Amino acid sequence: MIINANAKISSSQLIDIFESSGIHRPINDSLRMQRMLNNANIIYTAWIDDQVIGVARGFSDFSYCCFISDLAVKREYQHDGVGRALINKIRTDLGKNISLVLLAAPSAINYYPKIGFESVTDAFKIQRKV
Ligand SMILES: CC(C)(COP(=O)(O)OP(=O)(O)OC[C@H]1O[C@@H](n2cnc3c(N)ncnc32)[C@H](O)[C@@H]1OP(=O)(O)O)[C@@H](O)C(=O)NCCC(=O)NCCS
Repeated sequence: MIINANAKISSSQLIDIFESSGIHRPINDSLRMQRMLNNANIIYTAWIDDQVIGVARGFSDFSYCCFISDLAVKREYQHDGVGRALINKIRTDLGKNISLVLLAAPSAINYYPKIGFESVTDAFKIQRKV
């Protein structure tokens, strides 16, 4: 398995990973999905041969902070270290001066502490409508 920081993927590949992972994202709205791909500046992908099996999508100023919006691994490759490898590669590339922040899905709340995240009580959000 290889982690790639620069690979271009299509919105249909992104949709395929989201659908197969079980993560809830607006996969039926192709224009919105295309914007999600076009405007993110962190798209790390995990590959086995020519098949993309996982993705971490986010935004960083490459100076101070990084928000991880989506972490998803195709179901058949879950629990095999792919999610951890994607996050570790981002951490290594961004370096120690950049904080990583994310919102966990309910099913992943116990996951993030296992890969180095601390739970915080001082985070706030304004929830999107859809
Ligand atoms: C959550 C997800 C990204 C984890 O990726 P992964 O590649 O399967 O996880 P890893 O193999 O890196 O797991 C690392 C450790 O966490 C554990 N783990 C995996 N998923 C977990 C979960 N949902 N809850 C708690 N622990 C979990 C693994 O067993 C492993 O434990 P170990 O170190 O004791 O062996 C992936 O399962 C997924 O895509 N799930 C569906 C989408 C989703 O919920 N994404 C998160 C949105 S916030």
